Amino acid sequence: MQTQKADAIALVELLLTAEIYNRVHKLMEADLPPDIRRNYFDSQTEAVRRPILVSGADAEKICGAKNVKPILADLPFVEIDGAGRLIRLAEFDAAAAWFASQDVSEAIRQNPVLAHYYQKFDPDVSYPEARVVNQSILARGGNLHARVEKLYGEESEELLKLVTIKLPEDVRNSLDDLVLTKEQLDEIAKAGKALEHRDYLKSIGLFEIGKILFVGPPGTGKTSSARALSRWFALPLLEVKLSMVISAYLGETSKNIDNVFMLAKKLNPCILFIDEFDFVAKSRAADDHGAIKRAVNTLLKAIDDISLVEDGVLLIAATNYPQLLDHAAWRRFDKVMSFVVPDEEMRRRIFEKILKKVDATLDLAELARLTGGYTGSDLRLVVREAVLNALLQDRKKITQADLIRAVEQFGLRNSDCLQDSGAGSSKQ
Ligand SMILES: Nc1ncnc2c1ncn2[C@@H]1O[C@H](COP(=O)(O)OP(=O)(O)O)[C@@H](O)[C@H]1O
Ligand SMILES: [Mg+2]
Repeated sequence: MQTQKADAIALVELLLTAEIYNRVHKLMEADLPPDIRRNYFDSQTEAVRRPILVSGADAEKICGAKNVKPILADLPFVEIDGAGRLIRLAEFDAAAAWFASQDVSEAIRQNPVLAHYYQKFDPDVSYPEARVVNQSILARGGNLHARVEKLYGEESEELLKLVTIKLPEDVRNSLDDLVLTKEQLDEIAKAGKALEHRDYLKSIGLFEIGKILFVGPPGTGKTSSARALSRWFALPLLEVKLSMVISAYLGETSKNIDNVFMLAKKLNPCILFIDEFDFVAKSRAADDHGAIKRAVNTLLKAIDDISLVEDGVLLIAATNYPQLLDHAAWRRFDKVMSFVVPDEEMRRRIFEKILKKVDATLDLAELARLTGGYTGSDLRLVVREAVLNALLQDRKKITQADLIRAVEQFGLRNSDCLQDSGAGSSKQ
């Protein structure tokens, strides 16, 4: 009897998920739990088509029930359609209420489609949280690295040296910790909408979207933001260091680049983040070596051939040296997002974030005033020095004087090396 009850719950979860997914078009296939997604995944189109229809065979496969017939007898809100092949909900509301009355909080927490529906009724349910949980289950269920191995066989080891794959839940950077400009936040919101409405954008033929170039001095939050977006959008992050891809195995480079982009397409939806993008230009200028030129051309071509709308890959590249990029590289991106050295108000807010958990009563406006020209990264270093100096005196309480002293020390140290390292910012 107990297993029949469990089977009934699993079946109703499937039917509700299908129904909600069919109704709510902003839900993406990545919102489906792995077993449902796998079952309905069409490898030809590499997508889960709407509507999801549930046959007896689907139900038995996904729910693991031997025979769904006896289960249905206990569920008055479920019907079998005329032809006797499809199972569906005759009364959605009754089904949703019955389901919620079972012991299913864990199931809802892990199923973004259900969470999207139930969050209207239950403040403890959150669709974004469920996406993070589900993404990590999806990625692990298929075991990302095992998948890569299966796809690339012997080449996978090389490939994994060039690209770091992170799950959203493993990313430590959070957008909440970053102070961004209104323009930046707007762009992020737009990218989010584009991800949500891929089908729509495709239907109206709008493809020039989802390739963003992050530009700005070192230490202004480019790398942190790209990573934080993985968490924010609940998408896996494929992070590539271009210097590795291009220089490590010169002869193999073109193939490596193709493989990295192919991998991103296979793992979609995801973010492909290319840091140090200016390496393209540097290597080009430095070399008449044909192999590098070929590699760069392969890279630019690969960027042309990937699309958010069609492949579900959000491409982000970052550079500290935009002046090194030529037109051929620039024109590949449909958006340039500028990262700026923060103004006084931003500096105050950055201090506020960094010091959020530190025990201190401070005049942040004064600190912001004293730190003109400092990047976010510089401000972090200032706070670190202040904290360490206080610890040297066995204190965990930080004073305004600690921070002012750290600002002065930082200024002194930096005036020595300002010439050759720009703002003297450090990289992460
Ligand atoms: N605007 C900002 N708000 C909060 N922290 C910032 C900001 N800019 C930089 N930081 C901090 O400085 C450090 C270095 O930033 P990073 O993302 O590596 O910069 P970039 O990639 O532009 O060189 C990170 O710890 C980051 O959190
Ligand atoms: Mg960086």
